[in-house]
Order: sequence, then C-alpha cells, then structure tokens
Amino acid sequence: MTEVQVAHTAQLDPVVLDATHDLLRTVFAGELSPDDWEHALGGMHALVWEDAELVGHAAVVQRRLLHGGRAWRAGYVEGVGVRADRQGNGYGAALMAAIEPVVGRAYDLGALGATEAAVRFYRARGWQRWLGPCSALTPSGIVRTPEEDGGIYVLPGSFALDLRGELTCDWRDGDVW
Ligand SMILES: CC(C)(COP(=O)(O)OP(=O)(O)OC[C@H]1O[C@@H](n2cnc3c(N)ncnc32)[C@H](O)[C@@H]1OP(=O)(O)O)[C@@H](O)C(=O)NCCC(=O)NCCS
Repeated sequence: MTEVQVAHTAQLDPVVLDATHDLLRTVFAGELSPDDWEHALGGMHALVWEDAELVGHAAVVQRRLLHGGRAWRAGYVEGVGVRADRQGNGYGAALMAAIEPVVGRAYDLGALGATEAAVRFYRARGWQRWLGPCSALTPSGIVRTPEEDGGIYVLPGSFALDLRGELTCDWRDGDVW
C-alpha cells in the first residue's frame, strides 16, 4: 500500500528521520552534504511510504526572501527526492501535491533551487523561473550569488512579484540557496 504522510520534523520519530536522511543520500548519490540535510529540517515533510519502506521525501521550511523592499515569508522546498527505482510512478507529483498547499496557506510564496534534471517537473506544476539577479544577505551584507541566477523557482502567492527584480535569501551555512 502506498501512503503519503505529512508531518512536522518534531512529529517524526528519529528512526524515520534517519531513514529520510539515508534515502536522500542515496537519491543524491553522495552529493548531499550535512548542511543540505540540515536545510531540510524544522518545517513540514511529505513522505511517500510503500508499506513500511520510505521511497520519497520533500520538505518545506520557512525562510525570509527579500524582494521589492519587503522580507517575504517564504516556504522553501528542500530535499525533494524519489528512490531511483521508484521514479516515474507519480510519487514526486504526490509529494509536491502535499507540500504546495502548505506553501499556499502558510507562506507568502514558495521558492526552491532546482536541479537541472527536475526543471521540467517543477515548471509543469506552475513553478516559475526567477529571471532577475539572486543574492544572499550574508553577515557582511548583501552579496550576489550569480551561480544561482536562473536556477531559482518560485510559486507565487497572492502578492505580485517582479520576476525580473532582485531576490535575496537569508543567511545559512552551506549552500545559501
Ligand atoms: C524529480 C523527481 C523528484 C520526480 O519524481 P518522480 O516520482 O519521478 O516524478 P513523477 O513520476 O511524479 O512525475 C510527475 C510528472 O513529472 C514528469 N517528470 C518527472 N521527472 C521529470 C524530469 N526529471 N524531467 C521532466 N519531467 C519529469 C513526469 O513525466 C510526470 O509527468 P506527467 O504528469 O505528465 O506524467 C525525481 O525524478 C527525483 O528524485 N530525481 C532525483 C533528485 C532530484 O533531482 N530532485 C529534485 C531536487 S530540486
């Protein structure tokens, strides 16, 4: 039986969190840094279970994104992954279908940094490429992050966003976007 579970980090048993960490390490084939994992914690998770086996995960955590003179409350999507042998079965879509209503109800907008391979997946769901310059609010001020330009996607809420304007993320260890 396949089931999608939605829960806050605080509601997940440490064994489940370990299984999630293992799943993402496998999906991202050694590319998942300890910071990447930490970035997926502290918000809501969607988990796809096949009976007792975890085969997919996505998380949304709160971040502040500066844009147009405001610090928007953003639902930042992290750790989206489906086990390789289960991809193409609708699990990724089911994960995003569980996460997107959280974004819509709890945050001003959604945002994520997309892997090249997943761009079409997100675009088909209404996520829009950020066209303007990206930057980060670092301890020494706002610093451009040109390597991220074109790789950030947003799910607009009811507020008008200028997709060609500047978008600045809050500070964190590891990859800032
Ligand atoms: C991206 C990912 C989560 C999609 O999960 P999935 O379970 O394979 O996706 P689904 O089976 O739910 O597919 C949903 C739709 O997206 C499409 N799709 C899925 N992955 C796609 C991809 N990489 N490129 C283009 N379209 C894709 C499917 O064709 C399907 O379209 P349809 O509704 O018209 O049939 C999964 O491929 C994955 O884990 N990739 C590796 C990790 C990764 O890159 N994660 C994204 C991090 S930003």
